[in-house]
Amino acid sequence: RIALPRPFTVPLPSMPVLRPSTTDGRDVFDLVQRPTTLEVLPGARTDLLTYGGTFPGPLLETRSGRLAVVRHRNALDVPVSVHLHGGHTPSASDGYPTDLVRPGESRDYVYPMRQRAAMLWYHDHRMDFTGEQVYRGLLGVHLVRDDEEDVLPLPHSDREIVLAIVDRSFDEHGQLHYPSPDAGAGEHAHHHVDAPGVDDGHIEGVLGDVMLVNGAAWPVLEVDAARYRLRLLNGCSSRRLDLALDPPPTAGAMFTQVGSDGGLLATSVKHEHLVMAQAERFDVLVDFSKYPVGTQVTLRNRFGSGPMGAVMRFVVARRSGDDSAPADRLPDRLSEIEPLDTTGARVREWSFTRGEVHGKSGWVINGRPFDPEVMAATVPLGETEIWRFRTDLHHPVHVHLDPFQIIGRGTSQGPGPFDHGWKDTVDVRPAEHVDVAVRFTDYAGRYVIHCHNLEHEDRMMMAAFATV
Ligand code: C2O
Ligand code: CU
Repeated sequence: RIALPRPFTVPLPSMPVLRPSTTDGRDVFDLVQRPTTLEVLPGARTDLLTYGGTFPGPLLETRSGRLAVVRHRNALDVPVSVHLHGGHTPSASDGYPTDLVRPGESRDYVYPMRQRAAMLWYHDHRMDFTGEQVYRGLLGVHLVRDDEEDVLPLPHSDREIVLAIVDRSFDEHGQLHYPSPDAGAGEHAHHHVDAPGVDDGHIEGVLGDVMLVNGAAWPVLEVDAARYRLRLLNGCSSRRLDLALDPPPTAGAMFTQVGSDGGLLATSVKHEHLVMAQAERFDVLVDFSKYPVGTQVTLRNRFGSGPMGAVMRFVVARRSGDDSAPADRLPDRLSEIEPLDTTGARVREWSFTRGEVHGKSGWVINGRPFDPEVMAATVPLGETEIWRFRTDLHHPVHVHLDPFQIIGRGTSQGPGPFDHGWKDTVDVRPAEHVDVAVRFTDYAGRYVIHCHNLEHEDRMMMAAFATV
């Protein structure tokens, strides 16, 4: 088989930044979705589906309150649909799974950006094919900035690092190995995306055996002995992560969380480790000045074993010039998060279970497989509701259009340690129920709620709802 790089030898790629082509009154970004061959593993050639020729796609940065348009041209040979995950997006630009941009077509995705600063990500959302098309490269990070965040003394520029973590598998030729029904049906079958979904043997999900960060396998990054801001995305299809630093810093917290899916927390939260379900984002500070210069700090994944127990490495390479600067002091209040008022709120139940889908085993919500024409709920804009998610197994539940607040897990417990702030994805554990408060605003239309284990999603664990 193809040789994997020795861990922690490949430098961490920084994300290429996509500059807008027009900034006259609004920001217009041009992205061509096209097939590309890249050297993901040193010495190997891997065919990918890309946003603009890179893997992951380029980093987009936009301002809160400023209209952004992303003009996608589809130069792939498969239909696509683009979803801005975490975006407060009008229905027509939300990437509904059947709202396809066909090969040769272009589409303007319009994002008013009436939302606070946050780490969003964009990815393919084509019905039945999301798992495979994201696996083959269709994902990227989108940062929203605003004035509130800008005035905080957070590490920035070279000390703000975006880390998009995904797991992938490669075949003996260095091609991505995705277990779709047509894989292996011919010499080049694995380059095509023809048959829907994942094969029957992988409906639980697809786990890779190579950890990639920003498209590089187990990379390494030299850092100053200083405080850094890490913007973490678990972009895996089916893998949950439990991140920790090894060795831990000699003093102070391992991670100081300042934000979650939907932007800044009200106050920072200290963590000894971070459990991240698929699609979740964490915005954390790590103080590398707590390590002697020369220390190799491995970012571990405590849920993984062998090579999958490691993600990447930081090497504390030098003292920073500004050690003595007291700029490190974060205010006690980072932001205001007003709790949604749930008095008298309607409770809606969503149960995520194994079930029969068109005569085969699959995944269902409230007993039903996804039907893009059927609205499972009609929700009035502006009204707070309690949505109760029940599960059989692990399902990371994601809701489009607006973020929610996690009220509690189980009957008597409050939110968990990783549930702070505005969330758009929640890690619902086996046989659990999680209550969230949600209020949709601004845009009437059709949206979806689904499991973000992408193989569960493609095997129909999704439901449509209408906001009115
Ligand atoms: Cu990240 Cu509906 O998806
Ligand atoms: Cu699931």
